[in-house]
Amino acid sequence: MKGESARGASGTPGAVADFEDDGRLERLIEVATDAMRRAYAPYSQFRVGAALLARSGEIVAGCNVENASYPASICAERGAVMAAVARGDRAFDLLVLTTEAAHPTPPCGQCRQVLAEFAPDLPIVSVTSDGQMHRWTMTELLPSPFLPESLRDRVGGPGSLTDDR
Ligand code: THU
Repeated sequence: MKGESARGASGTPGAVADFEDDGRLERLIEVATDAMRRAYAPYSQFRVGAALLARSGEIVAGCNVENASYPASICAERGAVMAAVARGDRAFDLLVLTTEAAHPTPPCGQCRQVLAEFAPDLPIVSVTSDGQMHRWTMTELLPSPFLPESLRDRVGGPGSLTDDR
């Protein structure tokens, strides 16, 4: 694979390097690429595949699925998270994205928020069809996430308001 190596990039080198050494990174790239080929993207023509490595060892795939009502479309990353949670996985160690873009693309803002709920420091590797690779961690992409514990920080705590929320 040409382009940037996962090991040499910024972030937490150990995390992805381990997956590179044991072949799981390559496997995730295959799974994400297969999912990308199944993407339903007739409106944008921008196919995205995702492969999420769960702590259980399971690899869960996602692809973008668009809709004639454009805002009803869903990204590959969120599709993968929903599928993973449905099968009982909520802890994740690595996300691989594949696109046919000219350069590796990061997850969109909505997907960052959804990923942060379960894995606020997740390593992410994005790969193009011609083998360019870039990696980030969620901490870099969403440095101050709104997390489940943020809800508990409400002044007065739960139940202190008198309205119907
Ligand atoms: N898309 C993803 O699947 N993931 C992202 O992180 C960015 C965008 C999809 C949504 C839409 O189907 C197409 O790419 C163009 O935005």
